[in-house]
Amino acid sequence: MGIVIIRQDEKIDSWKDAITRFDPNSKVYSYLEEHPGDEISMALIWKHPKGSLAKYPNLKCIASAGAGVDYIFADSTAPKNIPITRLVDPYLTSDMSEHVLAVILSELKNFNTYKLNQTKSYWKPKDYRRIKDVTVGIMGLGELGALTAADLTRVGFQVQGWSRSQKSISNVKTFSGTDSLSEFLNSTEILVCLLPLTPATEGILNASLFRQLPKGAYIINVARGGHLTDADLIAYLDNDHLSGACLDVYHQEPLPEEHPFWQHPKILMTPHYASVSDTNSVIPQILENYKRLQNGKPLLNEVDRKNGY
Ligand code: GLV
Repeated sequence: MGIVIIRQDEKIDSWKDAITRFDPNSKVYSYLEEHPGDEISMALIWKHPKGSLAKYPNLKCIASAGAGVDYIFADSTAPKNIPITRLVDPYLTSDMSEHVLAVILSELKNFNTYKLNQTKSYWKPKDYRRIKDVTVGIMGLGELGALTAADLTRVGFQVQGWSRSQKSISNVKTFSGTDSLSEFLNSTEILVCLLPLTPATEGILNASLFRQLPKGAYIINVARGGHLTDADLIAYLDNDHLSGACLDVYHQEPLPEEHPFWQHPKILMTPHYASVSDTNSVIPQILENYKRLQNGKPLLNEVDRKNGY
């Protein structure tokens, strides 16, 4: 039994070191080093190169090193008959909620506009908005969406949420299913996308959705770039139906230099870093699953392959 870590960023060694720190006896390898492929039972991955999972004949579990798993389903060569797990972690959840709150407050208090004005030495007061007067709509009420919604109510926002199946969260008006999407959108002034990316939600942030939001609505996409139809966002920012957008995720990451988002005055960009797995916090659940795998016990945070999340 062994664990292979597959990821293409510079964090691969720090993940390996963290696992060894928590369990000095574990057999853990970076996929870049020499390792016994037939001894690997768990692949701990993040945006792995497509095809790389097919090299392990005795793989028993694919563990995502993040909350999302869409990139695993996007690899048609990934084994189809073994469990996929994802991370559910208090920091991953609260970091997202803090990020969304920071974005919303900076928009209500016009910090984005003032930063632009500052680059032109342009003094121009602009009316700000109060928390109590603003309705935030959250699409996706899973772990991240539900906590973000609850936190925003505590700060004083009017909060509503939309999800595939009906959810109940204290002080949050909840909607579910495609039939209620219009009603949800019609009264959402700041839209936060925290949906899982599946064939049903791909491209959901598009012209038809933007049209149903009130004029002046603001978009925050902290889910996946695949949710957004880029050209529709630009069209609805340019025709002034939307007041702005803050994006953390993109179709291609890093976003190519020539992409129009970079220079758009109404778009605020962050580099897919709203909420990032903290190895000290998440490794215990990964090692717990590794132990469960060895003992044939049910795994924590297993993904429903049918739903895709
Ligand atoms: C980040 O995007 C994650 O899925 O954890």
